[in-house]
Formats: sequence, structure tokens, C-alpha cells
Amino acid sequence: MCGIVGYTGPKEAYPIVITGLKRLEYRGYDSTGVALLDNGLKVYKKKGRVSELEQTIFGKDLHSHCGIGHTRWATHGEPSDRNAHPHVSASGKLAMIHNGIIENYAQLKQELTNKGYTFTSETDTEVLLNFIEDIRENNQCDLEEAVRVALKRVTGAYVILLLDTDNPDTIIAARKGSPLVIGVGNGEHFLGSDASPMLEYTKDVVYVNDYELAIVKPDELILKNLGNEKITPFITKLDIELAAIEKGGYDHFMLKEIFEQPSTIHDCLRGRLDADAGTITMSGIQNNIEHFKEANRIIMVACGTSWHAALLAEYIIEELCRIPVEVEYASEFRYRNPVINKGDIIVAISQSGETADTLVAIERAKENGAIIFGIVNVVGSSIARISDGGAYTHAGPEIGVASTKAFTGQLAVLTMMALKIAKEKKTISEERYRKLLLELEAVPEKVDAILKNAGDVKKIAEKYKSAGDALFLGRGYNFPIALEGALKLKEISYIHAEGYPAAEMKHGPIALVDENLPVIFIATQDSYHEKIVSNIQEIKARKGKVIAVITEGDDIIPGMADDVFYVPPADEIIAPMLSTIPLQLLSYYVGIAKGVDVDKPRNLAKSVTVE
Ligand code: M6R
Repeated sequence: MCGIVGYTGPKEAYPIVITGLKRLEYRGYDSTGVALLDNGLKVYKKKGRVSELEQTIFGKDLHSHCGIGHTRWATHGEPSDRNAHPHVSASGKLAMIHNGIIENYAQLKQELTNKGYTFTSETDTEVLLNFIEDIRENNQCDLEEAVRVALKRVTGAYVILLLDTDNPDTIIAARKGSPLVIGVGNGEHFLGSDASPMLEYTKDVVYVNDYELAIVKPDELILKNLGNEKITPFITKLDIELAAIEKGGYDHFMLKEIFEQPSTIHDCLRGRLDADAGTITMSGIQNNIEHFKEANRIIMVACGTSWHAALLAEYIIEELCRIPVEVEYASEFRYRNPVINKGDIIVAISQSGETADTLVAIERAKENGAIIFGIVNVVGSSIARISDGGAYTHAGPEIGVASTKAFTGQLAVLTMMALKIAKEKKTISEERYRKLLLELEAVPEKVDAILKNAGDVKKIAEKYKSAGDALFLGRGYNFPIALEGALKLKEISYIHAEGYPAAEMKHGPIALVDENLPVIFIATQDSYHEKIVSNIQEIKARKGKVIAVITEGDDIIPGMADDVFYVPPADEIIAPMLSTIPLQLLSYYVGIAKGVDVDKPRNLAKSVTVE
């Protein structure tokens, strides 16, 4: 949450910073601000989107070769001009941006207030900034030392970037718990919450680790730990092109990302799955295969959509590998005192690889000796780096706040992982194994076929755009897809939606059913089909509106449902990767019909780096 950008070098800083902020806006869009150093500080900030700030400051003096910028997801203090970052210190010499939460800010604020400091905002950031300044003045030390001393007193998570009028070409940065990437150019450096602000300038990046401090000048990058010892920066080559973070002719990133799925799923399977040879090559699994074979239990830890992928994996792994699986909300797991035994494996699933709850949950589990296996989309992200082994989903940058292509990538990886372990453990027959490999290989083509009917989904979305509530029901492998369908509709259309196991509906939610309630069934051909047909009848008997995702060739449900979306036939383990596609499209088109900014729905942010 919150995007941060910085630049120091021979180029004009403002265009780099403002373009970078547009790319990072998915991380939060409550307010925007920039600070530029050039014969003093120039700070411009405003409630609202990056484009609004850009318009407001058009024509102003924006000349500078060293600048920082921030796009905010509000934590302390409402979205407003005065709570927008950058904040300026009491002396007017320092400007700072921050992504994270300073948990002991109230105590620090009290100490500073007692010394006579006053504050112009309600933010924890302004408190930390003045705390740093106070240390610099009292200890007669340089800014770098003051930051080090201050951060030793701070609890919470942060990435901070600081400008100092006394050192007009230097940015001081530090991180704990929130992401920071530094791009190394030729006589210039770029800073960002991710690599997107620097893609057209450099492919050489340094991922800053927790408790590291960076002193960034045009031609010098010094990394130190909080003990003031130098650390050699480790340069990684980026493998992302600029086109991957642009809309590519689509109206929205979400639509682009939905339509990319045939190729992203293909990319995820490519080089791993060989159906002809009957092999799955996943070095992360192979390197840990004995642990997986001997595992007493797998604990999956994730949030949001990634949690839904974990839930489906529970069904698949228990069926194919006969290993007990527990699925945990990371935010709950981290604060419990969970029992982790020798032989347990923690699988962390995350698109961003930066979700604070997931990250801290696995840090705790690691401290207790657990093996951590990460399934992550963003290469080089914190969860990827802290994991003992793992597999990338290779879905490419996902910019739309609603997770779509990352979800199907997670399902593809988790299914391959289950098949590989099952094969090694000999808990799957050769025939079923081979069949599932072929089925998995065919998924991209089948997703492509579903997307060709997007126009049908759009028409149905129009019919239901005024609904106040919706129920999503599925059984077995399709139950997690019901949860995911409900989450997508909620976040993109602001329609209240609930996902339930279809049979559970009788234990309460059925009371909601009337002629106005759309009930979306995920009812593809599987071993539960007859049962779910009965559930549909129960809804129809109460005059509910039934929309069903069904398998082509189903000649029973179309006679009962008000509307249907067809998906190609598939094995029941594979079918969820198909049935989720019409639901993604449904939420997208309902959101569009209601005029929602689907890429940046209200109150949300893509990467939840606060608890
Ligand atoms: O980056 P992560 O996969 O760890 O993110 C987890 C959730 O924040 C994320 O899936 C969220 O629920 C999405 N907005 C869902 O579309």
C-alpha cells in the first residue's frame, strides 16, 4: 500500500517521478505528492489521483534533478491535502515519504510535543520525520546517522525516502517490511516500490532488504545495515518489458489481464509440463521432494484471492497426494500460536509477494523451524526471497486491483505441484496422472474459447447490474470458485455478494432468496452435479434468479436457469480454472455498467503492505 518513487541523476526528476507514480497508483490512490530539490525544497501534494496533481501543478516550477513522489493509501488520517505525502520537517530542511505504519507513533509524538513540536497532519509519517530531525539536531550528527538512531526506536513497517536541503543530490532510504527497489543507471539511480518506474531506463536493480539503509547519489549507491556496516549491493537483472505494464489497447488493465490468461497460463505451464513425456519439471518441488513426500501436513497461508487458490489446492492435494492440508488466513495465523510440527510444510501464496500479513506469518513460521514454500507472481518480491523454495506463477505484472490472471496462474502451479508430489508418492494411478497432464495442457485453449463468448457475459451483466446482493454457490472443487466469484463482484461492482458451499445454503442464506436475488451457481459436470441440480431447484422453488456456469452439452440446467455461461468439458480438478473466467468477466462488466473505476475500486489497493 502506498507507492513511492525517487530519482537522482542528470535528468529532470519530475517527469520520471510523476510517470512512476502513475505506474504505482495501483498501490493506493487517496492522495499524491512530490518533493523536488533545487535551491531548496519544492513540495506539491493533493488529495486524489496522480492525474489531478499533475493538472494542478502544470506550469509551476518543477525543475530538479533529485525528487521523490508518493501515492497514498490512507492509514493514519483521512485522505486530504494536508495528510498527503511528502511531509516537511519543522525546520523545512527535510522532506519525507513513507509506505507502512509506525506503530509507536503516538508515543513518539507525545515526546516531540513535550519538546514543543507541532504537527500539520494526522500522519505517523510526520511524527517519524520530526523524530529524525530532532535526533539530528540534538546529536549533532548527519542525516544518515539520525535515521539509523530513529529507526532503532521505531516499531512497525516502513519504507522511507528522505530529501535534505543540505545534500541536494542525495536520497536516503530505509526499509523494513515494505518493498524497495533501487534501479542502477549510468550516473543515476531510481527508487520505487516496485521496478515499474524505472523499466525504460535500466534493467539492473537492487532489492533492498529489511533493516537496510541506502544512501543514494547519482553515481553512488551505498547500502548499510542499521549497525552502520557496509553491504555490497546485489544487482539483479529485470526480466520485464515496458509493454507488460501498459494497457495494450484494452480499456482497462483488468480486461487486459482477463484476456491475457490463455498466454499467462501457457507461460506458467511452459517448460514445466510435458504431457507427452509424462513429466512435470519444477525444481522448487524437486529440491524439496523428500520433505513433501514425508510431510505430515501442509499449511497454506494466504489472503484474499490467493486464499481461494489455497482452498482449492486443499481439495486437490488431499485428493491426489493424501497429505492433510490446512488453509489459513495469514492475518489470523500470524497472531495465533499455531502448532507447527516437524514435518509440516508452510506454503505461502501471494501475487504481490509483499502482503504484510502473509510475509509476517511465514517469518514467524520460519522462526519455528518450518519449511517455507512460496508460490508468488512478482519475481524478487519479499515472500519469494524469504522462502526456502518455491515456484513463480509467471503471470507477468498484474496491475488491476482485482486479481485475475494471477489466480489462474496460482491454480496452474498448485495443480502441477499436486500432480508432481502425487506421482512421486505413488498416490495417483499412471492413467489418471497422464489424463490430468493432458487436461492441464489443454487449459489455455479452453480459456481462449470461453473468452470468445465474453459478449454473452456482457449482456447478462447488464441484466443484473442493479442487484443489491448476490449469492455464489458451488460444491467441491467449485466451492472456492464461488468464494472467488463473490469477492470479485464485491470489489469491482460494490454489490454485496456472498459465496457458500451450495448445500450450506439451506442452513441460513436461503432466507435471503426472493425474486430479486441473483444466485450464481458454479455447476460444471462433476461428481456433485446431481446434487447441485437439486440445489438449483431449491432456489427456483423460492423464485430466486439463477445464473449458472455449466459445461457445454449440459441439457438439464439450461431448462431451469434464467441465464447460463458455458465452459468446455474438463476433469473436475481442472474445471475450476475454466469456471472462474466467466465470473471474472461478469464482475468486470457489471462494474463497467455501474460506472465503477474497475482498475482502482474505492478503498482498495493492490499490494496490502499494512496489517
Ligand atoms: O498479493 P497477494 O496475492 O498476497 O494479495 C492478497 C489479496 O490482497 C488479494 O488477493 C486481494 O484480495 C485482491 N484484491 C483480490 O482481487
